Amino acid sequence: MHENHTPPAPPLFTWEFASDPYPAYAWLREHAPVHRTELPSGVEAWLVTRYADARQALADQRLSKNPVHHSETAHGKGKVGIPGERSANLMTHLLNIDPPDHTRLRRLVSKAFTPRRVAEFAPRVQELTDQLIDAILDKPCVEKGEADLIHEFAFPLPIYAICDMLGVPREDQDDFRDWAGMMIRHGGGPRGGVARSVKKMRTYLAELIHRKREDLGEDLISGLIRASDHGEHLTENEAAAMAFILLFAGFETTVNLIGNGTYALLRHPEQRARLQRALAEGDESLLATGVEELLRYDGPVELATWRFATQDLVLGGQRIAEGDPVLVVLAAADRDPERFADPDTLDLSRRDNQHLGYGHGIHYCLGAPLARLEGQAAIATLLRRLPDLSLAAEPEDLRWRGGLIMRGLRTLPVEFTPKSHAL
Ligand code: HEM
Repeated sequence: MHENHTPPAPPLFTWEFASDPYPAYAWLREHAPVHRTELPSGVEAWLVTRYADARQALADQRLSKNPVHHSETAHGKGKVGIPGERSANLMTHLLNIDPPDHTRLRRLVSKAFTPRRVAEFAPRVQELTDQLIDAILDKPCVEKGEADLIHEFAFPLPIYAICDMLGVPREDQDDFRDWAGMMIRHGGGPRGGVARSVKKMRTYLAELIHRKREDLGEDLISGLIRASDHGEHLTENEAAAMAFILLFAGFETTVNLIGNGTYALLRHPEQRARLQRALAEGDESLLATGVEELLRYDGPVELATWRFATQDLVLGGQRIAEGDPVLVVLAAADRDPERFADPDTLDLSRRDNQHLGYGHGIHYCLGAPLARLEGQAAIATLLRRLPDLSLAAEPEDLRWRGGLIMRGLRTLPVEFTPKSHAL
């Protein structure tokens, strides 16, 4: 298919690639927009990198979310999916199923996880955000205040937020913090610890759902138990799988939105100053377009979750065989010059910005309103309360996590003028 003079595909999934995958994605978009490659796990999959193909693939019902359609799963290799979900009986969640089951479950969860519930949660998100910044500012320091924004800010905010929303009692939330920490640290590496954490979460959630059934409250788990559609309810196992996927899908993604987003702002001082000025003048419109742009520019979900061809099909001119896995590279699609003007430029006021950072079609992110709320609160509060925040490491020394689906920094060391030195 390629011309003879086309250079070979750049190396993918190396450390160098993880720190800046965008040049390799530009190459793929141009020379091999639907490209078969071997993933680090040994599974072979198609990578889809152009915006138009990506959008089409995300909405294509011939691409199933159910791993039973994977040709390798059929042979018992079982290398795709969330570590531990099989053994913990969590497979029946939204990201693993197709219509009509998906339609039924999504309708039920949408009755409980409403935009209104999210809007009512805004004061709590602001309170959590301020508490985390208070803790950073209250640390003893000599000359300069220092923090690792991933560990001290981006990581705890989403886990406490979603635990609160679900109705996990405060005294148990640090357990979730530990389990989630295990998942985020080892997501792309050894699976034993992750699988154990997933099992513990599953057991905890099953017990919590059982207890709440006896004593319903105003929290989201009670909402999931109450939700009904034409007399149908979630079974206990479905409710546990739903609570789990809300935690799983809503946690590392939001950590990375805050981490990648803050990092991008620190690397673009003129855009950051613009946003700081707008916020100081009480104008929040740039915050809203800005967080969308941060998602497009360096979004948390690099590759959408697995899809499998249920029949032979053609995508972007490439023949894909039944049973083949297809990975839609959202990060590549969102930098496609065919769709976005100056795609490699960060422009917080970008208006024509229908990015794919939250996916597209029936699996479009259910938690987008919560993610926007947390992302906007986190970025605005950081810039307001630590106004001279700066990067305390050379960009080339920062390490990116090597997972397949997510893109995020391991640490984000920063400096700022401490409280005692502020005017
Ligand atoms: C689905 C991104 C935050 C819950 C998705 C998908 C993407 C995405 C790309 C579609 C995956 C696919 O089609 O393969 C993000 C990003 C977030 C974020 C970038 C943060 C910035 C959240 C939060 C929650 C959440 C906070 C909930 C608390 C979900 C769920 C699905 C989903 C349940 C599955 C929906 C379905 O299959 O019908 N998300 N997400 N997400 N997200 Fe998010």
